[in-house]
Amino acid sequence: MQISPSILAADFANLQSELEAIATADWAHVDVMDYHFVPNLTLGLPVVEALAAVTPVPLDCHLMIEDPDRWAASYAEAGARSVTFHVEAATDPVGTARAIRAAGARAAVALKPGTEFAPYEHLLAEVDMVLVMTVEPGFGGQSFMADQMAKVAQVREAVRRHGGEIWVQVDGGVAADTIEQCAQAGADVFVAGSAVYGAESAADAVGHLRDLARR
Ligand code: DX5
Ligand code: ZN
Repeated sequence: MQISPSILAADFANLQSELEAIATADWAHVDVMDYHFVPNLTLGLPVVEALAAVTPVPLDCHLMIEDPDRWAASYAEAGARSVTFHVEAATDPVGTARAIRAAGARAAVALKPGTEFAPYEHLLAEVDMVLVMTVEPGFGGQSFMADQMAKVAQVREAVRRHGGEIWVQVDGGVAADTIEQCAQAGADVFVAGSAVYGAESAADAVGHLRDLARR
């Protein structure tokens, strides 16, 4: 059970100290948005490179961008240890996953809430993680979509059949009141933005979420 706090909910003027505040987490989730794949804009390669140089935890980059085939491996080269791209945006998901791995990072694919998993099941041979979005990508602080739990269970079952160690991540509205159902459905990596950075103590929130996920 791994916790990946999303720095989308952190103070962007103090990202180094915000990363230090989650030093007990397993990953730091970095949401890259381009105003095209999603209607929001965050940060890109130069910032990821700067964060990678100072972060106490590995960076888990979630690319919500068009043309990830062109850019994904660059995020691994910039220092991200896990790079996730959306299947809806990729034209060559196999080649892109291979390029991420060749650049030394874990490769992952993400599915928007309206995207079925079945057409992409063959990608399990190429990735280290599948991200099941539990909100429409684009913004933090949205309501958790419990109807995505069936997809989480479906991915977990496919991973079990496929064999190997492939993680199942959930992202969006994951908090103390929703994380247990994610774990029960089969998720093992939990992204949480507002539930961590909106808490009085980010470190306490990470510990609490991890305890709930393990129950
Ligand atoms: C949404 C992002 C999420 C977001 C989650 O598009 O991918 O990572 O930061 O934020 P919360 O946990 O507040 O829903
Ligand atoms: Zn994300």
